[in-house]
Amino acid sequence: NQHPVYQLMEQVKLLPLYTATDLSCLATLEDILVSNQVPLIEVTFRSQLAAKAIRKLAESGRLTVGAGTVRTLQETEVAVANGAQFIVSPAIVPEVIEYCLSKDIPVFPGTATPGEIQRASSLGIKVVKFFPADIYGGIKAIKALSGPFYDVSFLPTGGIDSSNLLAYLDHPQVIAVGGSFIISEAAIKNDQEKTGQTLAQLVKLVSSS
Ligand code: 3PG
Repeated sequence: NQHPVYQLMEQVKLLPLYTATDLSCLATLEDILVSNQVPLIEVTFRSQLAAKAIRKLAESGRLTVGAGTVRTLQETEVAVANGAQFIVSPAIVPEVIEYCLSKDIPVFPGTATPGEIQRASSLGIKVVKFFPADIYGGIKAIKALSGPFYDVSFLPTGGIDSSNLLAYLDHPQVIAVGGSFIISEAAIKNDQEKTGQTLAQLVKLVSSS
């Protein structure tokens, strides 16, 4: 895991998943993340503005920006062309993985079962997204899977929040946890100051792990 993106995730232990529907929130988003030492973000391809938001964040350069919910090679190319530095998928999409590996772009394909983890591993993946983590057995599943898959690391997402994240982060093969609970456009719009305070508490909690 030589690429700096892995080191950053391992250090921060949190990967905020963000869906952009209003670009005017991005500057505040950057402020809150940077001031809380969470200088990375996954912008999902779940809105029309995903590519534009990635470009804006990449140009500003304050955050390491990746693309999430990437399900096609075309989305991967658009994400990378707009400055995405890593790619997260909800599933194994071989052409996405091959493209990223050939360009040395970190890619985190979604897996949940032994067969899927094996498939990702055979394609050259060292860190898989474990999704949806809560539905597929949570930390108990990761403990069981980490036996045979001793050389794979996990990025769990799905149903993670401040009540359960420490259980995941305690596991040596969990590189970080991701999710929409870390920050959101709705939270920023509702109360910017409170969003910063909530993130500060979360970072404090994580630093105890
Ligand atoms: C993902 O794609 O990683 C999940 O949708 C995140 O799940 P969450 O919204 O429960 O955090």
